[in-house]
Amino acid sequence: SVANIGVVGLAVMGSNLARNLASREGNTVAIFNRSWERTETLITEHPEAGFVPAHSYEEFAASLSKPRTAIIMVQAGRGTDAVIDELTKVFEPGDIIVDGGNANFHDTIAREQAVRETGIHFVGTGISGGEEGALHGPSIMPGGSVESYETLGPILASIAARADDGEPCVTHVGTDGAGHFVKMVHNGIEYADMQLIAEAYDLIRRGTGKTPAEIADVFDEWNTTELESYLIEITAQVLRQTDAETGKPLVDVILDAAGAKGTGAWTVQNALDLGVPVSGIAEAVFARSLSSKAAQRAAAAGVLPGPSSEDWKPSDPDAFIEDVRQALYASKIIAYSQGFDEIIAGAEQFGWDIKKGEIAKIWRAGCIIRARFLGRITEAYASDPSLVALVLAPYFRDAVTEAQGAWRRVVVSAAEAGIPSPAFSSSLAYYDGLRAERLPAALVQGQRDFFGAHTYKRIDKDGIFHTLWSGDRSEIETEPSWH
Ligand code: 6PG
Repeated sequence: SVANIGVVGLAVMGSNLARNLASREGNTVAIFNRSWERTETLITEHPEAGFVPAHSYEEFAASLSKPRTAIIMVQAGRGTDAVIDELTKVFEPGDIIVDGGNANFHDTIAREQAVRETGIHFVGTGISGGEEGALHGPSIMPGGSVESYETLGPILASIAARADDGEPCVTHVGTDGAGHFVKMVHNGIEYADMQLIAEAYDLIRRGTGKTPAEIADVFDEWNTTELESYLIEITAQVLRQTDAETGKPLVDVILDAAGAKGTGAWTVQNALDLGVPVSGIAEAVFARSLSSKAAQRAAAAGVLPGPSSEDWKPSDPDAFIEDVRQALYASKIIAYSQGFDEIIAGAEQFGWDIKKGEIAKIWRAGCIIRARFLGRITEAYASDPSLVALVLAPYFRDAVTEAQGAWRRVVVSAAEAGIPSPAFSSSLAYYDGLRAERLPAALVQGQRDFFGAHTYKRIDKDGIFHTLWSGDRSEIETEPSWH
């Protein structure tokens, strides 16, 4: 047994992760794939990696030093269970099975519980950064037992991305499914961030008539401001790309129907279960769904009336672009604030001791949502660990205060121009809801009490009350309603 770490599943992510592991001092990497061809290709193409290839799970287990540690990189779902079954047969108590796929954290909790009975550790870990990240340094979000992290931590730290201060982007997020939970929320934020950037592009394009390449320049410029991030950077590159076949901007020939593999929807489903309003993320998921409703869109386009972009132009295009930039920043702060709210609620619900500041820290490099302002989130939680909402931290409060004039102008313009901006406008609505001293929820409570005797509380005294709506309309003190 010569290898200290193994990888099962050698599609692009698995191969890249294995190569990354092999390139770091101190690691020898055992590899296994269901079909031998993939293994053969990898060892042939990368002799420098010194891989220890295995033909069977038995051989794979025999090539690993103890405690055996293996990372599964197969498509989330049934494939993962099949590999876990095989590995538990050949591993021993104390060994560690790591699932590096985008698994649903509920599955991870169940798998951890089942595998634990064999004495083997099961660690669900989020890995972000796409193919390039896997190869050069991803952001890694492991869950599982504290004990397993003693072995696994240094191995993951050897391949993780490094932030500007040199710290590796990995931390023990919490037990069992905590890592996959946090990765799920990461992806939800990723959806919101992408949608916000897409709305900004659309507003600028339809408002000012700039070409995609010109808008790429705008994004490049934005990337020197507090908006600096990987997603802004790649957006500029996508916008600058010309289609070889037609000579048109590539973005104009890509079908405008956004796909999704499910993690964004999970973020929203779980937020609904936890009662956390992640409206920006939800709108981003729904915007993708709407974009893919080809039949409905075809039936509605040109039939449902509304302003056309021709009817509306900003009087000062440069000022408008600056407004959009500020609206983007404010909305982005809201999306992160909502995402962190979900992390806090999930930690409470599932009993995880998640350090918010540490999460922001490991998202500073390697992952898809890496951005300059993540350092500010770490600072915010460091100076006030019990911060009730990220947007209330002095830095972010000041930022939205400064941006809010622009933010409101952009949402008004979008409505006037008939340009859909669900993420911008829902973020602003959330912000106004959060800061409202009174909400019309009082009326909703009144309505609920009217039709269902659902009861209400009063602002001026304790107790539960019900108005006898179908009687003399006097108020009685009562028990909480059960229906
Ligand atoms: C990452 C990405 C990665 C994947 C997304 C794509 O962090 O590296 O989030 O996990 O690219 O899951 O998700 P959709 O296909 O749903 O957009």
